[in-house]
Amino acid sequence: WVIMVTAQTPTNIAVIKYWGKRDEKLILPVNDSISVTLDPAHLCTTTTVAVSPSFAQDRMWLNGKEISLSGGRYQNCLREIRARACDVEDKERGIKISKKDWEKLYVHIASYNNFPTAAGLASSAAGFACLVFALAKLMNAKEDNSELSAIARQGSGSACRSLFGGFVKWKMGKVEDGSDSLAVQVVDEKHWDDLVIIIAVVSSRQKETSSTTGMRETVETSLLLQHRAKEIVPKRIVQMEESIKNRNFASFAHLTCADSNQFHAVCMDTCPPIFYMNDTSHRIISCVEKWNRSVGTPQVAYTFDAGPNAVLIAHNRKAAAQLLQKLLFYFPPNSDTELNSYVLGDKSI
Ligand code: DP6
Repeated sequence: WVIMVTAQTPTNIAVIKYWGKRDEKLILPVNDSISVTLDPAHLCTTTTVAVSPSFAQDRMWLNGKEISLSGGRYQNCLREIRARACDVEDKERGIKISKKDWEKLYVHIASYNNFPTAAGLASSAAGFACLVFALAKLMNAKEDNSELSAIARQGSGSACRSLFGGFVKWKMGKVEDGSDSLAVQVVDEKHWDDLVIIIAVVSSRQKETSSTTGMRETVETSLLLQHRAKEIVPKRIVQMEESIKNRNFASFAHLTCADSNQFHAVCMDTCPPIFYMNDTSHRIISCVEKWNRSVGTPQVAYTFDAGPNAVLIAHNRKAAAQLLQKLLFYFPPNSDTELNSYVLGDKSI
């Protein structure tokens, strides 16, 4: 017999960035962060997990290709969910798995991204969130999504925020074992559903410095990061939560852009400096800043993760349509701007 569970999880984009760990093994951050979860129709991972007594080892396929599960991050997630497994019974098929049987059973995992991995868009967040959620359902773990987020966090920090829709806060936590470093929902996906997210895929090339390596070097060398984590982010988190709750786009846009820019400043303050944005990214920033200033009230916020791709959050459909028009004029795909394509992060346009 085989028992299978399939889950689907969207990716998320941070508007207050996570950058820097205080504990690398448990993946505990140096500050809180806040993100928006995208619509699953556009950027998500679908994962099927299966268990059968005929499986001889844990195995995983990503987009159809087998990958190694030996990395500590996968092992941490598997171990943590196995430790929480409960009895499972399928009366119709006469299958019974007791709590302790799970220690001897192996799983097969098949995971697909509905966006090209080559597009250079983060996939680890959706991937680990989906894996942990699917395993928890398969093994009948009773933990709620916040508790599961603390396990997904051990796969990839940003993954913990993908266990919820809407706007999500990852609380850094205080205790050493990391049990209070988890995600909570700030507002659900219906609260502010006129926002439209457009991703400008500036480059599909693999980033030169991975987030994991980059943030390690920043923690070791950047004084600006200490200042950011202690003095800046705590206040920004409070202001960002307020802006989201009140649907105050002007304040939301100001904080989002400022935090993205400070994150990249912290990367530049790293020794040796890390450059994630390129000329096209900088030109997109100028274009948005000029437009926002000419209108008087911000219409669009921009944010960039560990790569040159722009995530643009428009106030509403009208602003999104105008933005797209401007972008297509100034940055036509496949031109010498190096811009490849536009991806909708939201279905509402
Ligand atoms: C810039 O979650 O990919 O996207 O925890 O080492 O797996 P690890 O890093 P990861 O870092 C994401 C960094 C970021 C900002 C963010 O998502 O908050």
